[in-house]
Amino acid sequence: MNNMTLTFPSRLENEAFARTSAVAFLMPLNPSVDEIMEIKTIIAEAVVNAMIHGYEQNQEGIITLKLEYDDQRTIHILVEDEGCGIADIDQAMQPLFTTKEHLERSGMGMTIMDTFADEFHITSGIGKGTKLEMTKKLHGTHESTQQ
Ligand SMILES: Nc1ncnc2c1ncn2[C@@H]1O[C@H](COP(=O)(O)OP(=O)(O)OP(=O)(O)O)[C@@H](O)[C@H]1O
Ligand SMILES: [Mg+2]
Repeated sequence: MNNMTLTFPSRLENEAFARTSAVAFLMPLNPSVDEIMEIKTIIAEAVVNAMIHGYEQNQEGIITLKLEYDDQRTIHILVEDEGCGIADIDQAMQPLFTTKEHLERSGMGMTIMDTFADEFHITSGIGKGTKLEMTKKLHGTHESTQQ
């Protein structure tokens, strides 16, 4: 069992910080290149959503990223904001649904996270914020399982 928590303000440059810190934290698990790419993408999509939707680009909003892993190489990822919340979660989950078409969003972030994660759970309250909880089990490169 190991875990870490990062909190940072909703500034776009912190997206790269969050994603690279997460990968650095997970290095002892020796994930495959594909798994690293998927985890980076999950975190980037979740953090950018918190910034542009949750906080509507207000740079003072605080985002929390928590990661935890166990001996079975299952990773728990939590990304939380205290922004505007999601009115209709089922609708937000639909591929191509976006409320920010004018910002050239494609509405694929939730679908991509749902695809790359093994479990994907959203809790959201209007005016309270949004919490994404995901799990991902690693199957790739690992010293003790390599023949
Ligand atoms: N943290 C959040 N807070 C408030 N609303 C959110 C949040 N995350 C997602 N949403 C809502 O869910 C919709 C769908 O999100 P999704 O990530 O799938 O698409 P997008 O961000 O609009 O586009 P893309 O991710 O492809 O750039 C968003 O347009 C927004 O209305
Ligand atoms: Mg998105």
